[in-house]
Amino acid sequence: MTDIAGSKATVTLDVARTNPADRSHFEVPMQSAYARVLDALNWARENEDPTLGFRYACRVGMCGACAVVINGREALACQTSLGEIDGGTLRIEPLRGLPTRHDLIVDMRPFFEGLARAEAALRPREPDRRDLPVIPPASNERTTIEAQNGCITCGACVSAIADEAKVDDGVGPAALNRLLMLAFEERDGAGAARLKEIAAEVHSLGGDAIARAESVCPAAIPLSTALEKLKSLIADHDDQG
Ligand code: FES
Repeated sequence: MTDIAGSKATVTLDVARTNPADRSHFEVPMQSAYARVLDALNWARENEDPTLGFRYACRVGMCGACAVVINGREALACQTSLGEIDGGTLRIEPLRGLPTRHDLIVDMRPFFEGLARAEAALRPREPDRRDLPVIPPASNERTTIEAQNGCITCGACVSAIADEAKVDDGVGPAALNRLLMLAFEERDGAGAARLKEIAAEVHSLGGDAIARAESVCPAAIPLSTALEKLKSLIADHDDQG
């Protein structure tokens, strides 16, 4: 196999298997300068081991299904280029802090249950309302939530802080961000009541952990900003009694 420069080009995948004591190694040809980790996993499954388990759907960084840990860092397999590690070894593990179901496939239920437990879902002020509210581009709401938009619920953030925060404990990074967006959502009826419910858990969140979660977020969502703004909103609410 030759790469685009005409030299031998392969990458070695060192992949975690369901049994933590097992690892599989695959020597995968680099078929394109644009090949991604997901391409290499697919090659390994098609050519070496049809039982290799990993998950993906969109292949364009939108669904979050392919999130794994690559060389110790959370990333989307479909968005991580093989080009920069030509000739090297990639250690690929499932996301941390979530139960492994099969090889690189984790059970995402604790992540979504965490969002539900944090009340990070719309409580409609007017349940029968069907129109979508217009948020003007220059409004406070828009400028506050614009950068926080785009979470793909991949679980990378909770994996990055799994050593100090259990996925099913308290308010996690993704929930924190969603709660901030809901605080500026005019259709939401929970408002101050929700802020009161989550105040203690938000104040207990460590800034360092949130910064680490932010550093691996594939959607580049400013989670540290979300924490600051949510704390500020809670403080304003407390001042108003
Ligand atoms: S396959 Fe959808 S984000 Fe990677």
